[in-house]
Amino acid sequence: MQLIDGKKVSADIKAEIRAEVEQMVKDGKRRPHLVGILVGHDGGSETYMANKVKSCAECGFESTLIRYEDDVTEAELLAKVQELNADPAVDGFIVQLPLPKHISEQKVIEAIDYRKDVDGFHPVNAGRMAIGLPCFKSATPAGILELLARYNIDTKGKHCVVLGRSNIVGRPVAELMMQKSYPGNCTVTICHSATPDIASFTHQADIIIAAIGKPAFLKGDMVKDGVVVIDVGTTRVPDASRKSGFRLQGDVEFANLAPKSSFIPPVPGGVGPMTIVSLMKNTLLAAKGEIYHG
Ligand code: GUN
Repeated sequence: MQLIDGKKVSADIKAEIRAEVEQMVKDGKRRPHLVGILVGHDGGSETYMANKVKSCAECGFESTLIRYEDDVTEAELLAKVQELNADPAVDGFIVQLPLPKHISEQKVIEAIDYRKDVDGFHPVNAGRMAIGLPCFKSATPAGILELLARYNIDTKGKHCVVLGRSNIVGRPVAELMMQKSYPGNCTVTICHSATPDIASFTHQADIIIAAIGKPAFLKGDMVKDGVVVIDVGTTRVPDASRKSGFRLQGDVEFANLAPKSSFIPPVPGGVGPMTIVSLMKNTLLAAKGEIYHG
């Protein structure tokens, strides 16, 4: 079993990005600028956003955090999105999800100029990715593929079982894993909440990408020996032994799965840091105008 070290890979890539940014600055260009919008005080979202701001500094980017209270109106948020769309000093921006119930996430996502949608959530980017066109790739799926590539994990002709069909992870990662390039070229099966007997599918899998948000769902007796496991889950579960009172639990039962796996990441420290790296890569691409011009 080899542990997939997302922390190390993400640090390596951030260093690569930083070197490129410093060269850009030497060439007289301004630093890439990412703006994050955070609504409310959800613990998970606070942590994600703090890590994104920190990563911007590590990559040599400028970053701006805009905060709203939970009672911000949809109209106020949409007005800010329009303002950022029009601001030439902003290369890319993200609205941290989830949003409060009274705000339509889809409306907000669709209001973002797809040329600044560095999360890759806008239907234009989602659609372009699905048909293999240049775009801002959805951050977590792109991070997962980057991990597979950096560990030289063989994917061609393999059976990849994706657990979950969310727009943020399950659906887009399934699309990427079947694309005709590396990493990819897999036979892909997507299992979800209406799939009977999920174990019958995971038993056949060479690669399992678990993104259903159910703590420790995938058990050791549900996989074959040598499986590659990618755990996307990060659910906060109560843990009295921690100062915070909780720990992050992935979608897989690590202790029983690790001995049967060829590759597996820890949670935290696996996919999480890679999502942020993808966001940084997209922001750099946005600043360079490499995907969409003008
Ligand atoms: N909430 C959970 N993951 C993400 C992400 O990658 N981007 C945004 N904007 N919100 C999220």
